[in-house]
Amino acid sequence: MRDLTPARRAVTEATGQNRFRAAVILGSGLSSLAASLAGGEPIPYSGIPGMPVSTVQGHEGALYAGDIGGTSTLAFAGRVHLYEGRSEAEVTFAIRLAADLGCEVTVLTNAAGGINPELPVGAPSLISDHLNLTGTNPLTGPNDDAAGPRFLDLTEVYDAGLRTLASSVDPELRSGVYAGLAGPTYETPAEVRMLRTMGADLVGMSTVLEAMVARYLGLRVLGISVVTNPAAGLTQEPLSHDEVAAAGRRASDRLDNLLGGVLAKL
Ligand code: HPA
Repeated sequence: MRDLTPARRAVTEATGQNRFRAAVILGSGLSSLAASLAGGEPIPYSGIPGMPVSTVQGHEGALYAGDIGGTSTLAFAGRVHLYEGRSEAEVTFAIRLAADLGCEVTVLTNAAGGINPELPVGAPSLISDHLNLTGTNPLTGPNDDAAGPRFLDLTEVYDAGLRTLASSVDPELRSGVYAGLAGPTYETPAEVRMLRTMGADLVGMSTVLEAMVARYLGLRVLGISVVTNPAAGLTQEPLSHDEVAAAGRRASDRLDNLLGGVLAKL
């Protein structure tokens, strides 16, 4: 495992703060929220030793720090993915850094395809559970028993109390099971039918590895998918990243209110 000390020092020096309470990870097209959330001068990921920088359009690559409704928050604008050729350790680096900086809660956001037609397109939905279909697990390898358990219980990855809190902020929110795949291709219509049979309501290319590492390190996790498109085969429309990112941006007001409300009530 990489040494987090230089990264922690960079954040502490840039912010004058060495402890935070919550970390928000902002996915595709959702990065613009960070500035309004946390304000202040962001720290580019390139200025944080070990922090991987995303190659994907719509993923800004900067860390904002600030106080949101009384909760000291790290807002990571942009993440890296397995499909960029990144390792499990790189994909989960932000979560490990957040834990090292004292965070007790993480909010993982993503853009997702909607498999269950009852989840509204262009709106956020809560993640109630996940299917890890990435083909990998970030906790393989020797275990540091001081950091977390060898065999981690995943009965409640996405914290029920945080979901209730989110629903009190935005009572219209629906929830569903998120299937996390490696990507980078979108799914075939046959794969979407398979995922539906397996119990998935949402599909995307992130979040599941981060959620597992967050639980391992003892953080409570809130997962929010912005449904940017009906999954492949559910409409006649072909899928495009530009449209996914644009739909994410359109949903940003509602996501902004939700995140601000949740952080204020923590
Ligand atoms: N599939 C996978 N990932 C996605 C999708 C999708 O339909 N939309 C946004 N991210």
